[in-house]
Amino acid sequence: MESLGHQPSDLTTSQASSTGTSPLPDHVRAVTRRRYGGVTELQVERIPRPEPGRAEVLVKVAAAGLDRGALHLLTGTPYAARAAFGLHRPRQPVLGLEVAGEVVALGPEVTGLAVGDRVFGTAAGSLSELAVARAAQLATTPAEVSDEQAATLSISGGTALEAVQRHAQVEAGQRVLVLGASGGVGSFAVQIAAHLGAEVTAVCSAGKADFVRALGAQHVADYRTTTIGELAGPFDTVIDIAGNRPISELRRVLTPTGTLVIVGGEGGGRWLGGLHRNLAAAALDPFSRQHLTWFVTRQSRELHARLGDLVATGAVRPAIDRTVGLDGVADSLTAMGQGTLLGKVVVRP
Ligand SMILES: NC(=O)c1ccc[n+]([C@@H]2O[C@H](COP(=O)([O-])OP(=O)(O)OC[C@H]3O[C@@H](n4cnc5c(N)ncnc54)[C@H](OP(=O)(O)O)[C@@H]3O)[C@@H](O)[C@H]2O)c1
Repeated sequence: MESLGHQPSDLTTSQASSTGTSPLPDHVRAVTRRRYGGVTELQVERIPRPEPGRAEVLVKVAAAGLDRGALHLLTGTPYAARAAFGLHRPRQPVLGLEVAGEVVALGPEVTGLAVGDRVFGTAAGSLSELAVARAAQLATTPAEVSDEQAATLSISGGTALEAVQRHAQVEAGQRVLVLGASGGVGSFAVQIAAHLGAEVTAVCSAGKADFVRALGAQHVADYRTTTIGELAGPFDTVIDIAGNRPISELRRVLTPTGTLVIVGGEGGGRWLGGLHRNLAAAALDPFSRQHLTWFVTRQSRELHARLGDLVATGAVRPAIDRTVGLDGVADSLTAMGQGTLLGKVVVRP
């Protein structure tokens, strides 16, 4: 086990590659935690090389993204999520979900991918030199897209794309309100809605207003000085990513047939994390002309491929706050918790 200091990598020295001539290392460096807690639980340690299952691939990680889910998986909150991730301790000791890199080994049932392909998508345990991903959750990285950009896309970009296109079905000319516009998901949601031709009003803290304006928001408001009711609505769509405002307050700024999409929000309680708002929206939806909905991101190759195209054509430019090594993960997660990041953190193992 190592401290958080930088160590030479087995992978760099043994040159695992698509040629198949160099053996893969037996051990790799990874960011792990063995129990739920704060960033002090994190360590960079050498772990046995993960092995892909039948429908999985092994990815040599060029870059991994940090999304808010990493903090949830670190702290084990909201507690309800532990049913999926491990009741008493995390089932997957390696942190990280978003990945970009090169395929270095394939399970026997994998189709559509080959050793040597540049890929990006979702891999539980992506903060490692090698990570296993389900082939169905990886897409080919377009030539125009860097590994760093690709590593930001799957969870943050994917969630934004699902919210704006699949659930809100935003169209040109519509008025869209994005709450939580300055974060990982929000920085993509603003860009995607603006790209679709919507007039975007973004809510974030005052210090991030210029950042959010540069993403394509036409109007920006600070949630510390402006209430939702004071915004110049009504809006065809509200994309609710942060703030945990009451549903009734959000409905009042929607048009009579507008759509509210609840994505998330921090500070909603340690047990359910604000899930009561999602349940309230689902319960009210059948009785309202407004469409009130929420979702959990469904990661897929198709979703990632659409994101890859948006970045390749320049329609969307991932906002990257910083790029760090594995030993920079703890500080970056602290910054995420403090709300000081502008967009995404990329980790290069
Ligand atoms: N439904 C899903 O499948 C799904 C998928 C991914 C994420 N999520 C959830 O979505 C939420 C956001 O994720 P993320 O990755 O974008 O997090 P993030 O990167 O931490 O961004 C959240 C942003 O919201 C801003 N903010 C905080 N309070 C606010 C308020 N009252 N009003 C407006 N903005 C506020 C924060 O900065 P400033 O306060 O400085 O502006 C921050 O930039 C999280 O709760 C996450 O768990 C859900």
